[in-house]
Amino acid sequence: MYKLRVNGLSAWFQNKQVLFDIHLEFPEKKVIAIIGPSGCGKTTFLRCLNRMHELTPGARVEGKVILDGKDIYSEMDAMEVRRKIGMVFQKPNPFPHMSIYDNVVAGLKLMGIRDRKILDGIVERKLKEVGLWDEVCNDLKRSGAQLSGGQQQRLCIARALATEPEVLLMDEPTSSLDPASSARVEALIRVLKNNTTIVIVTHNIQQAARISDFTAFIYNGKLIEYGETKEIFESPKDPLTEKYITGRFG
Ligand SMILES: Nc1ncnc2c1ncn2[C@@H]1O[C@H](COP(=O)(O)OP(=O)(O)OP(=O)(O)O)[C@@H](O)[C@H]1O
Ligand SMILES: [Mg+2]
Repeated sequence: MYKLRVNGLSAWFQNKQVLFDIHLEFPEKKVIAIIGPSGCGKTTFLRCLNRMHELTPGARVEGKVILDGKDIYSEMDAMEVRRKIGMVFQKPNPFPHMSIYDNVVAGLKLMGIRDRKILDGIVERKLKEVGLWDEVCNDLKRSGAQLSGGQQQRLCIARALATEPEVLLMDEPTSSLDPASSARVEALIRVLKNNTTIVIVTHNIQQAARISDFTAFIYNGKLIEYGETKEIFESPKDPLTEKYITGRFG
């Protein structure tokens, strides 16, 4: 019933510990919001969930992250983990020298899928899923970098979805978007939830309240409170959580 379980997770950059013994679990096909002030460790936490943290020189992780009963650190290889647990970053980052089409299929090609018909089908389906198809279908050879910011972010989401991840990690995916583009991405998250578990870092408290089922509040690298979003927002148990969600710090 839990898609992902985090068990005693700690993380370091060199000697500096930035996450402290975090325990929590994510139910399948739900949206989980990660909130907390700048520098508290939200991005690092997300990057520990798909083994990207270990790519930073000198970075270290302790503890377990269990995906469907298997520890992603000791029982799976990193490539498999990153295929099953996709990521979308704060700043849209399409591969700059690739076309829209090639951006979407990049991960599939790494997996060895070359059949043009199959790739064509996936490109169309994924671009439709993120609501970008109508805007770009006549121009798939154009560089992804030439799209608007909101279009680029939807392209990056399509790229992340192309390999059909079971869990999607999103690090402030709407923070660089205008309100209309943000609303489209939020609407998309609601649809994606039908078959994906989504973990989203957001600075926007209203956004967390609108789109998430569960909310985790992190402060100074420690998990202060975790529970159903409604509970966290209506009756937070920890005074720090209450201070944060009512905008009195952070
Ligand atoms: N590459 C790095 N090397 C050393 N320290 C780092 C590195 N990246 C982040 N840190 C430190 O780790 C801590 C957590 O950073 P992190 O980026 O996870 O915070 P965050 O909650 O995502 O912040 P923000 O809301 O500003 O994005 C901070 O103290 C930060 O300075
Ligand atoms: Mg961050």
